[in-house]
Amino acid sequence: MAEASPSHSDEFFHVLKTQQFDRDLLDGLCELTNAVRRFAKHREGLLFLRRQLGDKRGMLYFTQPSTRTFLSFNNACQILGIQTSEIRDASTSSEVKGESLLDSLRTFSSYVDVVIMRTKEEGLAEAAADLFDRIHRRVPIINAGSGKDQHPTQALLDIYTLERSFMHRGGIDGKVIGMMGDLKRGRTVRSLSYLMKNYRDVKLVFIAPPAFRMEEDIKAHLKEHGVAFSETEDMEAALPSLDALYITRIQDEHDVSKESSRVDLSRFKFGVRHLRALKGDGVIMHPLPRRDEIHPDVDSDPRAKYWRQERNGMWMRVAILTKIFKIDHQILHSYLMD
Ligand code: NCD
Repeated sequence: MAEASPSHSDEFFHVLKTQQFDRDLLDGLCELTNAVRRFAKHREGLLFLRRQLGDKRGMLYFTQPSTRTFLSFNNACQILGIQTSEIRDASTSSEVKGESLLDSLRTFSSYVDVVIMRTKEEGLAEAAADLFDRIHRRVPIINAGSGKDQHPTQALLDIYTLERSFMHRGGIDGKVIGMMGDLKRGRTVRSLSYLMKNYRDVKLVFIAPPAFRMEEDIKAHLKEHGVAFSETEDMEAALPSLDALYITRIQDEHDVSKESSRVDLSRFKFGVRHLRALKGDGVIMHPLPRRDEIHPDVDSDPRAKYWRQERNGMWMRVAILTKIFKIDHQILHSYLMD
């Protein structure tokens, strides 16, 4: 049996930002997720998964609100037998005594084998990873959302959902993908945009009011890597050209002075009447939680993939953990023999 612990030379160790992923890694993670899901279909398979990492412990440090990401990571850990502990409220940790965030994170590394973190601070996961790389007890960090900046594991589950949705149409290559909503402060769409350079002939259509347009750093990245994109405020005009529409909520927790409430969002809501304009094999996605940007009546349309996307998140996170702890070959090998 392979040693279930990460090594220094391992390129897949910390998961910090989507720029670290290439096509081989993305394809490999999707294949691994498929393998995990096949195990999970049967009691024996689930028990097999649960035996894999029973000697490991994980820390969930989530000081920003979270339902899906927290629960899917916690359950992904449990699926593999990893025991978890958690901090969800910084006011109950020693930060209130003046401890620095990096010292707190270093403390977690004394007790656990993986730290999964969501914080309002951008760049903290990277700073923690730098620190962990220098100290004796090096444990992997997974960024589960860093402020307005990145949400790499969400982008991975989005890629998996897109690939599966286009399974019979050549995958993501060549597709036109619309992203709508708060593109300026939405970390999901930022992280997903960075991944598009790995796919051939993808076109992005950014649909947002002027106040929430995609930031220049992402657009510069897309230009540098030859990823075509356009920007519009007209969802209805863009709809017929899209293979996928990825809708996001307004991130008003970042408002300085309620500026979101002054923006007219009426043209950026998707309702049943819009379904007609979407391709018959088009896909509607949303990282959730939603507000009124997708009407609940859209849920019953087979092109609405967001609830499936949510569940895919747990399986993709299992896959990520198996890769970090280097048991992915075991999973794939047993899958092949299955
Ligand atoms: C997203 C997030 O936290 O960035 N949620 C999630 O993790 N599924 C999207 C959001 O909160 O709007």
